[in-house]
Amino acid sequence: MNRVLIIGSGISGLTCAIEAAKTGSKVILVSPFPSERSQSVLAAGGINAVMTADDGDSIEQHIQDTLKGGNYIAGEKAVRGLCEAAPDIVKWLESLGTVFSRDKDGSISRRAFGGQSFPRTHYAGTSTGKQIVTALVMEARRLEGLGLIERRYWTDFYSALIKDGVCYGAMLYSEAARTIEAVTADAVVMATGGQNALFGKTTGSTQCDGYAAGKLLTQGAELKNLEFVQYHPTTVVTDQKKILVSEAARGEGGRLFYEEAGKRVYFMEDLYGEKGNLMPRDIVSKCMYETGRQIYLDVSFLGRKKILERIPEVYDLCLKYKNTDISKEPVPVVPSVHFFMGGLAVDLRHRTNIKNLYAIGECASMYHGANRLGGNSLLAAIYGGKTAAADLSGNKTDSPDWSNEIKIENEKLAERRKSESTFPVMYVRGLLADTVNSTLGIVREKSALENGINSIDYYLSIAGKINYDRSELEYFGYSLEGILNLAKATLVAAESRKESRGAHLRSDYPERSDDYKASTIVSLKDGRISTRLINEDDYEG
Ligand code: FUM
Repeated sequence: MNRVLIIGSGISGLTCAIEAAKTGSKVILVSPFPSERSQSVLAAGGINAVMTADDGDSIEQHIQDTLKGGNYIAGEKAVRGLCEAAPDIVKWLESLGTVFSRDKDGSISRRAFGGQSFPRTHYAGTSTGKQIVTALVMEARRLEGLGLIERRYWTDFYSALIKDGVCYGAMLYSEAARTIEAVTADAVVMATGGQNALFGKTTGSTQCDGYAAGKLLTQGAELKNLEFVQYHPTTVVTDQKKILVSEAARGEGGRLFYEEAGKRVYFMEDLYGEKGNLMPRDIVSKCMYETGRQIYLDVSFLGRKKILERIPEVYDLCLKYKNTDISKEPVPVVPSVHFFMGGLAVDLRHRTNIKNLYAIGECASMYHGANRLGGNSLLAAIYGGKTAAADLSGNKTDSPDWSNEIKIENEKLAERRKSESTFPVMYVRGLLADTVNSTLGIVREKSALENGINSIDYYLSIAGKINYDRSELEYFGYSLEGILNLAKATLVAAESRKESRGAHLRSDYPERSDDYKASTIVSLKDGRISTRLINEDDYEG
């Protein structure tokens, strides 16, 4: 029986586990937290699919919207596969018991989302991710009962077991035992999410910190399109948090404006007409930035009943965090980091350039090009999970013995623990977040990026010597270097793209250039990060 190790138990990891188990693999599903606490439960708005052509929509239109929204660098074959699979994916979720919102005729409710020609985002109120996770966990539990899936929590990725370009499993760190063990497998699937911790606060969870991608970069894996970081136009910000105000609010008719001389200026409508508020996120965030003003979102004209029915979580969070009753008044919003189009480079079957190592969900870069459309991430997470699972069955490999490597890594941890001096790792993570936020904003520029790279080089030079504070989880100590490496690679990628496209805007290169109509591959060799441009559909690792 094929043995598959899946690291990360959000929506993509769960999907892959379920599908791999059903096709006869023995699955080990590991993550630091239970699925119910994964980043996936934060996904609000919905999942895109063309289920009916009644209103003139078509799968071809979904494909074209996705390619256009991604500023024409996503691979067409990949996007085609994604959009063609979407209707069956929604039916599959329904068959597993996902509780979607329903129209009077019983069909799953859908709404308009940014950059889409037709309303095709199927939703469950504004907690679609939570409802999908619930359904997938039920199915995973059933398969666990049959002995096909083993779920392990409080377990962190340490490194991949790689020899001569082949992956044989992973070193995993147990938070309870505080030891590293080798788990061998015929295939390893990374499903570790995006890299929120680089920025400190985002709309996502900092448990998705990018460490796995950063560590794998140092182990020879290639990364792609790191420079494309999505700023979601509507978030509310407190001292502690950046909280997503779902695009659903604008899908239901919400309007963005600023005030000038006592009058409201509906700037997106002035610029783009009727669909202005629902332009793709890269465009809306850029326009908000260019106004230089405080922007407000108004949904009050929808009325309390409709607001509570369609966007209840948005109502609750605005009241809780901004003390604003959106049925009565507008709420101030700002763009914040929300999604990473970049991640581990994968081919059409979700294989990385390391044999038997796969990546899915937000930690993989695929489908979204330079800017993701709302509602396509849940779809891509599930499609990626299914696509990888379909490729796993023939990977049987005999693993070398890893006991010596494991002994060395456990000794390293023990040495660190013995040291008297301590250093708050979170302090360095805070410095890193300041560097990253000041260099990878909505608009970037060469000298800031270069200074940022120098700062990260300095953090890297001290990272190996830091004896982290024992009050922190040991994970934070050993993960620091990987996170720093990923941050550096991201800035290098941003510096190398000398144009403005999608979510990557350069004040020193304000125009789009056909020279860069391609994806950026980043690799690390002999301590040097290098970049090259590729066409996504041709990527073979
Ligand atoms: O605004 C939102 O509800 C976000 C959805 C998404 O990122 O797909």
